[in-house]
Amino acid sequence: MKLSVIGTGYVGAVHAACMAVIGHEVLGVDTDAAKIAELTQGRPPFYEPGLAELLNRTVRSGRLNFTTSFAEAAAFSDTHFVCVGTPQQPGSLAADLRFLDAAVDALTAEAEGPCLVVGKSTVPVGTAERLANRLRDRDGNGAHEHPEIAWNPEFLREGFAVKDTLTPARLVVGVRSPSADRTLRKVYRPMVNAGVPFISTDPATAELLKVASNAFLATKISFINTMAELCEASGADVVTLANALGEDPRIGHPFLSAGLGFGGSCLPKDIRALSARAEELGVREAVTFLRQIDEINLRQRQRTVDLARTLLGGAFAGRNVAVLGAAFKPDSDDVRDSPALAVAAEIHREGAHVRVHDPEALANARLVHPELDYAATVHDVCDGADIVLHLTEWDLYRGLDPRTLVRLVHAPIVVDARNTLDPVEWRAAGWTVRALGRQAALGTPDAHGTAAEPEVSGNPAFRIAATG
Ligand code: UDX
Repeated sequence: MKLSVIGTGYVGAVHAACMAVIGHEVLGVDTDAAKIAELTQGRPPFYEPGLAELLNRTVRSGRLNFTTSFAEAAAFSDTHFVCVGTPQQPGSLAADLRFLDAAVDALTAEAEGPCLVVGKSTVPVGTAERLANRLRDRDGNGAHEHPEIAWNPEFLREGFAVKDTLTPARLVVGVRSPSADRTLRKVYRPMVNAGVPFISTDPATAELLKVASNAFLATKISFINTMAELCEASGADVVTLANALGEDPRIGHPFLSAGLGFGGSCLPKDIRALSARAEELGVREAVTFLRQIDEINLRQRQRTVDLARTLLGGAFAGRNVAVLGAAFKPDSDDVRDSPALAVAAEIHREGAHVRVHDPEALANARLVHPELDYAATVHDVCDGADIVLHLTEWDLYRGLDPRTLVRLVHAPIVVDARNTLDPVEWRAAGWTVRALGRQAALGTPDAHGTAAEPEVSGNPAFRIAATG
């Protein structure tokens, strides 16, 4: 089949490459000429394991091409996937749908015959219907072939994007006609034949499913983070608690890692957009808990800052703080709404000298927070530090030798805000180890006289920002 993919960000670039891998001829479209120039050379404009090799292969095979022209896309194919961003709207909790509307308008203005426009972007429920009405208003009821709108949400995780796209847990399509259903079954035939469940429903259910999925995952994370606070207050250990909870098949292990909480371009934005949409639909009370999920999440950033400040004797001014991790999660160079960078920036604002390391995200971090210092190696970031904060759980950090690092730092204090360092090993190497949700399990108060629990302060830096 011939397919176009509009928008070549994380979702679009990966979708385009994967569709080419399973045998389709694909044209990727983006208004960003610099991005298209990179992709045309088979180079991904962001870090994603496995994607460079895939792009290279499919571009060289001739099955994957790129353009900035919507007219070319309209002439090339009659099935178009729309993968543009739907970020949080400035000054509101709602999603900003301007890029989506512009892409659909630009594409359909060029389409001459009937075509199928398949949204993959994450949107408020009702968007497919709104777009269909918008096209009808634009083209008039007399036009007998309106472009058809379907929704086919994407569930890929950054860091696993290729794997998640080629072997998804399920394929979900929201369609209005049997012909759209047939087209999408044909697109995904190799995956369906390999046993991937294909769930065909209406567009509203498909749209809502995506945000419901992210809201559920966010709820799981905030739930375990509230348990972490209870563990600290009661002397219990959240890592053991989460492991035991996850053994119950009704609960399951994934998304029960307690710590600094969730960030990135999806979970925070999606739960806020769902709140905003629920309010528009007149069911605000049904999702009140989502506000709390968001607040609990942001509270972990504050708790980490407060714990570090307490460990430093009550103030950051003039102290050297080493930060391990800048990406919002490991195996990604994405720093959008990164909890690690939010903590680093706040500590800098309170007067510390903050130096940050990350194996992949330093270039992006520098753009967003030029006021922080960055170091290319763990050795350099820890050199002379008064405290080390482990904020993004890269495998690299799990494998660090605490006996080597202890000789570099000024004071051997580490805060493990992701609960992946081995506390016994670090403690044996001479470190004071603190972690979110597991102080008691780590043993006695340390020699720095820092056993007191930090007060969680109400810092406005970590309130829910209706600012995008
Ligand atoms: C998420 C969804 O998983 C994916 O299905 C959707 O398409 C996009 O949003 P992503 O944002 O790439 O994917 O990352 P994910 O792996 O879900 O992690 C999200 C955030 O939650 C990260 O900041 C991560 O560090 C945090 N997290 C995850 C936890 O704090 N604890 C956990 O147990 C799991």
